[in-house]
Amino acid sequence: MQQYILDIIYVIGALSFVFGIKLLGKPESAKRGNFIAAVGMTISVFGTIFLYHTEDGAHLKNLEWIFGGILIGSVIGTMMAKRVQMTQMPQMVSFFNGMGGACAALISLVEFHHSSEGVSMAALNSLGESVTISVVPTMEIGKAIVIYLGLIIGSISFAGSMIAYLKLDEKLKDKVLPLQQVVNVGLLAVILGIAACTIFEWVEIPYALYVLLGMSLLYGVLFVMPIGGADMPVVISLLNSFTGVAAAFGGFLYDNKVMLFGGILVGSAGTLLTVLMCNAMNRSLVNVLIGNFGGGAKGGDARVITGTIKEITKSDAASLMKYSKKVVIVPGYGLAVAQAQHICHELEQQLEANDVEVKYAIHPVAGRMPGHMNVLLAESNVSYEKLVEMDEINPEFRTTDVVLVVGANDVVNPAALNDPASPIYGMPILHVDDAATVIVMKRSMKAGYAGIENELFYNPKTRMLFGDAKKSLTELVSELKNA
Ligand code: TAP
Repeated sequence: MQQYILDIIYVIGALSFVFGIKLLGKPESAKRGNFIAAVGMTISVFGTIFLYHTEDGAHLKNLEWIFGGILIGSVIGTMMAKRVQMTQMPQMVSFFNGMGGACAALISLVEFHHSSEGVSMAALNSLGESVTISVVPTMEIGKAIVIYLGLIIGSISFAGSMIAYLKLDEKLKDKVLPLQQVVNVGLLAVILGIAACTIFEWVEIPYALYVLLGMSLLYGVLFVMPIGGADMPVVISLLNSFTGVAAAFGGFLYDNKVMLFGGILVGSAGTLLTVLMCNAMNRSLVNVLIGNFGGGAKGGDARVITGTIKEITKSDAASLMKYSKKVVIVPGYGLAVAQAQHICHELEQQLEANDVEVKYAIHPVAGRMPGHMNVLLAESNVSYEKLVEMDEINPEFRTTDVVLVVGANDVVNPAALNDPASPIYGMPILHVDDAATVIVMKRSMKAGYAGIENELFYNPKTRMLFGDAKKSLTELVSELKNA
């Protein structure tokens, strides 16, 4: 009976994960989705603790350790989640993902010892006397593959995520060793070779499990170390899928369907997100991993741009927008850096008070993490209906009077459309130059993440408004109030 109840709980848990992920797809339902998946996970965990039993009826032991772990983890997790700033979100995701990888690796270590523990048996010796002997069972190949792969993938995910965390927190800088890619590929080949030799018992390697643990941790460090800081979200998403796969191996080991299902779901969602991010930047995963874009690379062969820059004063910008019918705001990484989301919302309200229609154009990779702009703007209570995705807003620019670009650069760079030599050529962009006037707010003429010049700044329709985004927006708001 208990087993049936547990099976039903697992089905509910699995459905809640799928439903939760579906709701995460839209900002207005994301909180609900997160909550539903968390409830599903909680009942699955407690169902396992109280209802799981072996064929001979034994329930889980060591409950004090289990509840101790849950308590400590919950307190630390809640404190971290409450304290974290919106801009530190990628670090936290990376840290938590690393913990998942570590858990998967620990499961493999523990299960290896369980499976290879000697069993004491009574036997008769050659003199016919009764003695106790210890028998070490041989591990089934299928189980060995699951244990070793869980250990390798979990350790890589743990070490890689910790390096990503330190880099995003600016505690560690990108470091490329000589022949880094060759060393990485070589190390991975050695890891897989040792694992294969041990699993199939071709060669006996002393302490193979611990050798693999050490080498996999080293590989995780070397794999993430050279990747450009701003490419970290793609790498985190990839490591996230590794953790999912490693957790799914844990599900296999324990024959726990919900763990298997959850792991596969995280693995596939992480892989899809990685692919989507790469597509939105029009880059292959290999290109991200060996990083020739974003780590400060300059588009050496890209076209040289000439022309004149025209500036606009804050009061002129304010009156231009005030007498417009429609203004579209394009938020970018600079908005996040300046923490200008609240004042941006205030500008929107001021314009609306003057009967101006205001929308936000959201590029899929604006900022530095997926959904960066949606999260920032939602934090300052911008209504979700005003956030318009790239494909939907692009045709609207033709009927827009003023586009206000706030700290965005690559996502509005026409080189993506018309300069085949540019590193961003082929990346879909926001067609802001279709509007009547474009006002670009940034501090200088410096390049954005891709390290390339932007011909939009020289377009006769464009006016530059130099300065920190928060300060400039604050002044624009007061101009609008006083006008
Ligand atoms: P960027 O191209 O990085 O441009 C941001 C601009 O903001 C810079 O040119 C900078 O110019 C300006 N800025 C910085 N601080 C500012 C401040 N305090 N006030 C005003 N302006 C400021 O940003 P984007 O257009 O959002 O493009 C995102 C880029 O990141 C793309 O290339 C994308 O491929 C990449 N990327 C995105 C993701 C995801 S998932 N979103 C992941 C990895 C990489 P100044 O220095 O002159 O002020």
